[in-house]
Amino acid sequence: MNSIAIYPGSFDPPTNGHLDLIVRSNQLFRKVVVAVLRNTSKQSLLSIDERVKLLKECTKDFPNVEVDAFDGLLVDYARVRESNHIVRGIRALTDFEYEFQIALLNRRLAPDIETIFLMPREEHVYLSSRLVREVALLGGPLESFVPPPVAAYLGEKAKEFLRIYDTEG
Ligand code: PNS
Repeated sequence: MNSIAIYPGSFDPPTNGHLDLIVRSNQLFRKVVVAVLRNTSKQSLLSIDERVKLLKECTKDFPNVEVDAFDGLLVDYARVRESNHIVRGIRALTDFEYEFQIALLNRRLAPDIETIFLMPREEHVYLSSRLVREVALLGGPLESFVPPPVAAYLGEKAKEFLRIYDTEG
């Protein structure tokens, strides 16, 4: 228990599955850095600052968990943070090919950095930020998918979005 793990992702928005992985990583590593990718090409619901803020709120009871945002290559960021462990979650076989590709590419770029895969609780296996975004934008209930601070924040955001949608037509 003496190393630092980087848990990278888009976290748009953070879900119960992400939080589950953070708790599991926290039990395995001395320190966990939750790292939000800045330079993503994906269309986003939340800004990077919003994601960082929400993740900080969700992890405030874990003193060894830090939340940060990063640019550029993940392995370069891991080096800057003096970490040689990357944590990623695997939910189902559908994740496997993508994750396997990223992990092997990162290993080629930085052979000293190891990717560690963790499985979330079964009840989170079907969860994804993409589906949560869809439910959020359609004003559906989010309490069973995301941590309470995220549900509250997205609830307000959805109201705003639905109001604009109503006015525009
Ligand atoms: O939550 P996501 O979107 O599946 O996370 C993907 C992430 C952030 C792990 C990946 O896109 C990433 O590491 N990007 C940083 C750029 C990089 O290092 N690319 C090479 C490996 S894909």
